[in-house]
Amino acid sequence: MNHQTVSTELAIPTHRFTVRLSATRRGARLARRLATQQLDAWGWPYDSDSSRTAALLVAELAANAITHGRVPGRDFRLGLTVVPPGVLRVEVSDARRDCVLPAPGELGSLPLDSEGGRGLILVDALAADWGTDPSDPVLKTVWCSIALGPSVTGTPRVTGPSPT
Ligand SMILES: Nc1ncnc2c1ncn2[C@@H]1O[C@H](COP(=O)(O)OP(=O)(O)OP(=O)(O)O)[C@@H](O)[C@H]1O
Ligand SMILES: [Mg+2]
Repeated sequence: MNHQTVSTELAIPTHRFTVRLSATRRGARLARRLATQQLDAWGWPYDSDSSRTAALLVAELAANAITHGRVPGRDFRLGLTVVPPGVLRVEVSDARRDCVLPAPGELGSLPLDSEGGRGLILVDALAADWGTDPSDPVLKTVWCSIALGPSVTGTPRVTGPSPT
């Protein structure tokens, strides 16, 4: 993976979407579904590599938010931002600020019989960059970014219900 920081702060976003979801398995499934729905609306169809990669990343970060980051009674938040020339930043924020995540580059190899610990390895492999942002006083955010493939914006497409 490439550890160079994708400079999303400096570019003006072309698309932005945020949603609060319940910290449940249903909420995590919804996060994945809403992410692909939103990308489709922005020009990256469900069957594109970009959408599939984003779906995996959202699923892993949301799964972590509802297990390791869960605080009873508190929601988690999904944020998607697309900045020119085509970088998607995924942000998943949860209410548990009192924990330390492994840093990018600190993820070692797993014992073969390990029951967990694969999610962030997958994120590390798929994302151009990722990390944790503890700067918010209430939430912590785990984020990752990917370079998007070409969008089909401008091409007339029939939109329908999302595949499950
Ligand atoms: N949102 C989070 N809040 C707090 N700790 C987290 C969060 N995400 C990950 N972690 C910590 O990082 C560890 C590694 O996460 P990772 O997703 O790689 O594995 P896992 O969730 O334990 O297992 P798997 O994803 O394979 O089911 C977790 O076990 C947890 O200690
Ligand atoms: Mg996980």
